[in-house]
Amino acid sequence: MLKFKSDIPASEITPYAVYQQRRAFVQAAVAAGVLMPTLSEAAAMALKGAPSSYSVPEKTTSFDDATHYNNFYEFGTDKSDPARHADTLRPAPWTVRIEGEVAKPRTFDIDDLRKLAGMEERVYRLRCVEGWSMVIPWVGYPLVQLLKQVQPTGNAKYIEFTSLADPKQMPGVRSSVLEWPYTEGLRLDEALHPLTLLTFGMYGQVLPNQNGAPVRVIVPWKYGFKSAKSIVRIRLTEKQPNTSWNLAAPGEYGFYSNVNPEVDHPRWSQATERRIGEDGIFKPKRKTLMFNGYADQVAGLYTGMDLRKFY
Ligand code: MTE
Repeated sequence: MLKFKSDIPASEITPYAVYQQRRAFVQAAVAAGVLMPTLSEAAAMALKGAPSSYSVPEKTTSFDDATHYNNFYEFGTDKSDPARHADTLRPAPWTVRIEGEVAKPRTFDIDDLRKLAGMEERVYRLRCVEGWSMVIPWVGYPLVQLLKQVQPTGNAKYIEFTSLADPKQMPGVRSSVLEWPYTEGLRLDEALHPLTLLTFGMYGQVLPNQNGAPVRVIVPWKYGFKSAKSIVRIRLTEKQPNTSWNLAAPGEYGFYSNVNPEVDHPRWSQATERRIGEDGIFKPKRKTLMFNGYADQVAGLYTGMDLRKFY
C-alpha cells in the first residue's frame, strides 16, 4: 500500500509553483518508469487532465496539511487520527454499486470507474462546517459523467452516497459517534452540476487513505461533510435520503448545508474561517464567501428558496 509521507515539510505552505515542480518531478519519474505502479497510474491520470479551468487565485494548502488535518470519523474523531490510523483501509480491490432509480444499475470495479471519463485537476476551496478551510487540487471527473451511464429514471430526485463501514478496516465504526455507514446526499440537480466532482486523486496522486481512497465526492460549495469519502454505494432515490450528520444533530446539520456566512451554526458563527497552514490564531480570520465562492455557478439552483429554512 502506498505510504504518503510528504516530501514537503509541514512548516512550508506550498505555493502553487512548488506543487507544480513536484508534479513535474512525478511526471519525469513516471516517464522514467521509476514509480510504483499505483502512483504512476495516478500521476498519469492526473497529468492527462487538461489545464484546469477551475482554479482559485489563492495558495494551495500544503500536501502535508491536507493529509494530516482530516475529518474521517471511521478512523477516530481527532484531526490527526485519520493520518495515524487509515493505513488499515484497503482501497483495492474495491467496487462501487450504483442502484435505485436508474435504468442501468451496475457494480463498477474501481479501475473501470476510473476509466469512465477523462480526469481533470480542479483546485477547489474546501470549507469545513467547523470553521476552517483549505485549497486542494483534486483529480477526478464530474459526477454527471457517471450518472449519464446509468441513466437516472424520471423518479430520481435525490442521490445518496454510502461510505464503507468495515470494523476490521475502520476502528472508528465501533464507536457510536455517528450512525454507520456514513451516508450523505444531494438533490439530483446538485449532483448533476458540473462542479460536483467524483474524485480519485489529489496533488497528482491517488487519494491517500485518510482523504477517502479510492473514491469520494467533492461538492465545493457545501460544507465539507457533504463530501463523503471511500464510497461503496451510490443510490438514486425519489425521497430525500437520510444523512449521518442530519440524523446525529438535525438542528445543526441540515440536508443542504450550503456554505453560507449569513446563516450561523446554532453554536458558532459561520461568517469567517481560518485557512489551515496560513491563518495563525493571531491573524484576523478571513471572511467566508457565499456558497464558498461558487455563487456565480450555483446560486441559481436555489432561486426562491429560503436558505435559513433549508440550511
Ligand atoms: N466521509 C466519511 N466517510 N467520514 C467522515 O467522517 N468527514 C467529512 C468529509 N467526508 C467524513 C467524510 C468532513 S466533516 C470533512 S470536512 C471532509 O470529509 C474532510 O475531507 P479531507 O479530510 O479530505 O479534507
